[in-house]
Amino acid sequence: MRPAYSAAMSAAAAPNPFALFETWFAEAQRTEPDDATAMSLATASPDGRPAVRMVLLKGADARGFVFYTHATSPKGRDLAANPRAALCFHWAKSERQVRIEGRVVHVPADEADAYFATRPRLSQIGAWASRQSEPASGRFELEQAVARESLRFGVGAVPRPPQWLGYRVVPDEIEFWHQRAFRHHDRQRFTRDGATWRMQWLFP
Ligand SMILES: Cc1cc2nc3c(=O)[nH]c(=O)nc-3n(C[C@H](O)[C@H](O)[C@H](O)COP(=O)(O)O)c2cc1C
Repeated sequence: MRPAYSAAMSAAAAPNPFALFETWFAEAQRTEPDDATAMSLATASPDGRPAVRMVLLKGADARGFVFYTHATSPKGRDLAANPRAALCFHWAKSERQVRIEGRVVHVPADEADAYFATRPRLSQIGAWASRQSEPASGRFELEQAVARESLRFGVGAVPRPPQWLGYRVVPDEIEFWHQRAFRHHDRQRFTRDGATWRMQWLFP
């Protein structure tokens, strides 16, 4: 079902792109058959080699957009050397795309700890067991590592691995794209201007 055009666009008139994101995201969470939090994350190495992969959005507010991952992974290494990223959501049901660009900062340890504590125990164990993106001899090597870590923690609480971090993309640009008939799409780009935001319509 096509979402109400007027609701989306009146929100867009607000100078605050986070309010519009909230409106669109809430609608995507209601209408998307799959996970509306899934977003592509693009990073680049210091020599300009881009890489993109999916991650899950775990927090969004005026401070930025949060995901969690292993700092030792290729994306973690990219971000350590070049702390800028781009995110892209595609919500097919509502015919919308949101693109976000900005610098990336670490989520404070207490916030990351609090989020990690909400994860299922086996996901917590998995975070300890995985050497993300390193070669493995096969599935069994992961299963062995999971068994080892499960024994190590026994029945006690599983703390957050020190290399498993939250990253916040602090946006300086957010673009909202809404599909219209005959590819006469709406595009609005919000650009940070000090403490405020400027909005610019773009040709589709
Ligand atoms: C829908 C979806 C969501 C994902 N969410 C995450 C995530 O939140 N964090 C993460 O580290 N990897 C996530 N992954 C796996 C990544 O896409 C990727 O394979 C992994 O992080 C290694 O990336 P890298 O080698 O570029 O560092 C997700 C994959 C999919 C398909």
